[in-house]
Amino acid sequence: MISTRRTTQLVLWALAAGALLAAIAVVSYTLLFAPDPPKTVGARTNGSPMITTRFSLVDQTGKAVTEKDYQDKWKLVFFGFTHCPDVCPTALNTVASVMTSLGTSADRLTPIFITVDPTRDTPKVMAEYVSAFDKRIVGLTGTEPQVAKAAKAFRVYYARVQQKSARDGYTMSHSSFMYLMAPNGRFVTHFGHGDKPADIAAKIEKVIRK
Ligand code: NI
Repeated sequence: MISTRRTTQLVLWALAAGALLAAIAVVSYTLLFAPDPPKTVGARTNGSPMITTRFSLVDQTGKAVTEKDYQDKWKLVFFGFTHCPDVCPTALNTVASVMTSLGTSADRLTPIFITVDPTRDTPKVMAEYVSAFDKRIVGLTGTEPQVAKAAKAFRVYYARVQQKSARDGYTMSHSSFMYLMAPNGRFVTHFGHGDKPADIAAKIEKVIRK
């Protein structure tokens, strides 16, 4: 008869071998069958916690800026372009209304509009455009690689689309979410194209008051 101690040893060995086999099975399965992780470049996402405030761009006065220039403020960040026929003007009107609704709390929020069409949206063009909606909106542009990097940090999708009827023969397709970012750059929440200014303002007020 095998001693109790010997039995315990055998059981432990069996458990260890079982655990090892299970681990090998899981790793093999993951390597062989698990789907590819979602692509983050140019993917359409809507509020992943991976979104972060990181950019190196140029503001509408021609000054080079990064996220550090706005680190004492909450930020409402959205992407678009000044030649946008419909979605962007609506978004800028919404942001202007949100700023009005916020009253004095608006002092703690910087709305940031980042162009996805830097070829046409020079600092001067951006300055004229954003100030037509609300003087407090910051308009950022930059080189194409700078804009691509900023869009990647916010997981924003955009693409140039050939269109004969459009000015210069092209338009831009882009995602239209607005991102509420904390002073430290952390993602808080996002708003969609259909959200009403009063609702957005109420939500922002609630978050920044905490
Ligand atoms: Ni647009």
